[in-house]
Amino acid sequence: MKNSIAPYQLGFSATHQEGEFDGLPVQGTIPQWLRGSLIRTGPGTLEVGKQSYHHWFDGLAMLRKFSFENGKVSFANRFLESQAYQEAKAKGKISRGEFGTTARHSLWERLSDPLPRLTDNATVNITMQGDRVASVTESPFPIVFDPETLRTIEQFSYHDRVPGQITTAHPHYDFKEDALYSYLTNLVPTCSYSLYRMNLHSNQRELVGSIPVKRPAYMHTFAMTEHYIVLVEFPLLLNRLSLMLSGKPYIENYEWKPEQGTRFLVISKDEGKVVHAAKSEAFFGFHHVNAFEQEDEIVVDLIAYSNSSVIQSLYLETLLHHPMQAIGAGELRRYHVSLNQSIAEYEVLTSEPLELPRINYQRCNTHSYQFAYGVGNSRPGNFIDQLVKVDVQNKTTEIWRSLDCYPGEPVFVAAPNATLEDEGVVLSVVLNAQKENSFLLVLDAQSWRELARVQLSYHLTFDFHGQYFDPTASTQHLHR
Ligand SMILES: [Fe+2]
Repeated sequence: MKNSIAPYQLGFSATHQEGEFDGLPVQGTIPQWLRGSLIRTGPGTLEVGKQSYHHWFDGLAMLRKFSFENGKVSFANRFLESQAYQEAKAKGKISRGEFGTTARHSLWERLSDPLPRLTDNATVNITMQGDRVASVTESPFPIVFDPETLRTIEQFSYHDRVPGQITTAHPHYDFKEDALYSYLTNLVPTCSYSLYRMNLHSNQRELVGSIPVKRPAYMHTFAMTEHYIVLVEFPLLLNRLSLMLSGKPYIENYEWKPEQGTRFLVISKDEGKVVHAAKSEAFFGFHHVNAFEQEDEIVVDLIAYSNSSVIQSLYLETLLHHPMQAIGAGELRRYHVSLNQSIAEYEVLTSEPLELPRINYQRCNTHSYQFAYGVGNSRPGNFIDQLVKVDVQNKTTEIWRSLDCYPGEPVFVAAPNATLEDEGVVLSVVLNAQKENSFLLVLDAQSWRELARVQLSYHLTFDFHGQYFDPTASTQHLHR
């Protein structure tokens, strides 16, 4: 029996308008020092013609940008014109398979096209690729766009041959090396994880190391410390034969194997070799929060779920019609990976559910830190309905919540010349389900007071990740 329709359902319906708008109405005051742009990506529609995508992660990407100058705010949004988007528009139907949606329904389609074409529907995150700004997903085809106009330019091409077909939309930045670290998963036997680094002004990836793996795991992100990359391999393992032949959506070809536990692979950034491996009880996660070295251990903070059912819970059928079964947030855990022990143990840092975590990345990534920001959930069946600031050292929290409002990822922006870790603002795009529009919320990160709401005249489909671009920065580092 179906439960009632979800109160937040508007967030999973298409954004019907594209455009550019200056001088948006502001309630409250935007800090004068905020002079840059928040650019985000996420689905702009979850339908093509009469077909629907099945999973929140599948919809066709739309870029959104809020720009700040002298306390005024302008906004623009535009669909990303990937191949997947262009084909879907031309054919009037879903053209490429996505995370939870297949485009190969019949046996004939599967036999004539045994290896599914990878999508370039870059709907997950915004990153720098070399000197260029791109929207990215988990296939290695970043789509470069003009950050001024949001016009799609082209697919980014790498001048190298690092093997792999699947990647992460969450690379890390090493500010000392001025380089990006990431990995590709090579699904061709013998399967491997190809770790690479790429200078910020280059389009050539350098292979750091290749880690052989029998059955690759589904991993959305990874952790990085000063000297190490940490791959946390959840026991959600690929069935290659199924991927080739089943015709099932991509993620449904992975199998949950809890008896294998979760593996922490500690890999040296210098040599690309596994220097330590530890195990814990089985758990699953999408997002790492931060990681750092501390005496003879590595501290890995992440958002954990007891199993991979969170993936099933984010199918639209569940989100829209069975809201009590939808899981919007997980548990913030601190894993201690001792370099002398084979078992990784954890502590829970807050009882508040958390997801889409951010930190003061430029200052704190790879270091001990105090504050994490994320979305959360105040009650079952209400998806993501609050913002949470966690003091991970004192284990205290601050909450922002507003009636019938559903916030997205909180992006921290440091104030100029800030001395404190939380000196700055937090920006979050919020759906107001009652007023049927979205607004940009500006919070004072330190006091957790609301500074301003910037109103749009229409709603934006729930998105995933974005980055703040500071025009005064000498080098455009992103906060991840
Ligand atoms: Fe993500």
